[in-house]
Amino acid sequence: MEKIFAGILGMGHYLPDKVLTNYDLEKMVDTNNDWIVERTGIKSRHIAAPEQATSDLAFIAAERALKDAGIDGKDIECVIVATESPDTKFPSTACLLQDKIGAKNAAAFDLSAGCSGFVYALAVANTMIVSGLYKHILVVGAETLSRIMNWQDRNTCVLFGDGAGAAVVGQVEDGYGILSIDMGADGSGGQFLSQPAGGSRKPASHETVDAGEHFIHMDGSEVFKFAVKIMGRTAENAMKKAGLNTEEIDLLIPHQANIRIINSAAKRLGISMDKVFVNVDKYGNTSAASIPIAICEAREQGLLEKGKTVILAGFGAGLTWASIALKWSK
Ligand SMILES: CC(C)(COP(=O)(O)OP(=O)(O)OC[C@H]1O[C@@H](n2cnc3c(N)ncnc32)[C@H](O)[C@@H]1OP(=O)(O)O)[C@@H](O)C(=O)NCCC(=O)NCCS
Repeated sequence: MEKIFAGILGMGHYLPDKVLTNYDLEKMVDTNNDWIVERTGIKSRHIAAPEQATSDLAFIAAERALKDAGIDGKDIECVIVATESPDTKFPSTACLLQDKIGAKNAAAFDLSAGCSGFVYALAVANTMIVSGLYKHILVVGAETLSRIMNWQDRNTCVLFGDGAGAAVVGQVEDGYGILSIDMGADGSGGQFLSQPAGGSRKPASHETVDAGEHFIHMDGSEVFKFAVKIMGRTAENAMKKAGLNTEEIDLLIPHQANIRIINSAAKRLGISMDKVFVNVDKYGNTSAASIPIAICEAREQGLLEKGKTVILAGFGAGLTWASIALKWSK
């Protein structure tokens, strides 16, 4: 059987209008701009309007991706939304989005893999395309983490932001698109980054709300240690699987969580920072949305012409990690 190559046919992203700067945060919690910039590289983040939920952000990004790909919603056969802040536990945000974009002929499901979610979803879509199951899949990373943030917890509230990024995935020219995938998980570290209540273990109750257990809880230093270890390693694995060496990489697009984590991954890989895409300063950590937003901005900046070799590398709650090597096909 002829080998099919899957890749990105079109992309779009969306960031809500409201910008929350470090100086704004100084007025809300015991922190300061210098600390946040020095420890994380973040200067501001975007926050969804009160009436916007994750599917609304996802919808705008999806419409832009469909337009960019020249594909109609009804030609999408599967919608995958990677998110940790769905509109509701169920129905899935992917089903809500399927309806909004008129993807009447599509299956739809959410995928939970923390900040690695978009790369995981792209890997799933790749398999569905190369197997011949579907022709066009909409893959979205979208978050309104501001809704599950404890704005009194300086350990977490300075780090995250809202946003969405979407990709239409389909068949591309031979030799282009997704070249290799590296994914993994270590559930033994799950407690280091979690939303403890609201599920079957601890259903929502007055007690869980009073204890703030519906918010994001994080052991920052444990997550930091994990991230520094894993991001370079997973990117390296994807490169090896694709038979690529460092010199052949045109651009590394890492998950945007913390500039120090990005720097250490680049160092391990021996990739100079001018080949590493960074926008964590503007948006903070938008979790599953961070990599697709970064791809869109890299493309807008002319860094992604056809034939460029790119590594996407993510890590996140789970704990999870995922990298993809791809040859840009548009
Ligand atoms: C959260 C993180 C930035 C903290 O940076 P750090 O250099 O490890 O800082 P520490 O945790 O050692 O904290 C140092 C001090 O700063 C304080 N601090 C924490 N947040 C602060 C803030 N926003 N403003 C000011 N001080 C803060 C701490 O309370 C601590 O004070 P103490 O020594 O008096 O207890 C870092 O651990 C990190 O980025 N972790 C990974 C988080 C992540 O990426 N999560 C998402 C994964 S997808």
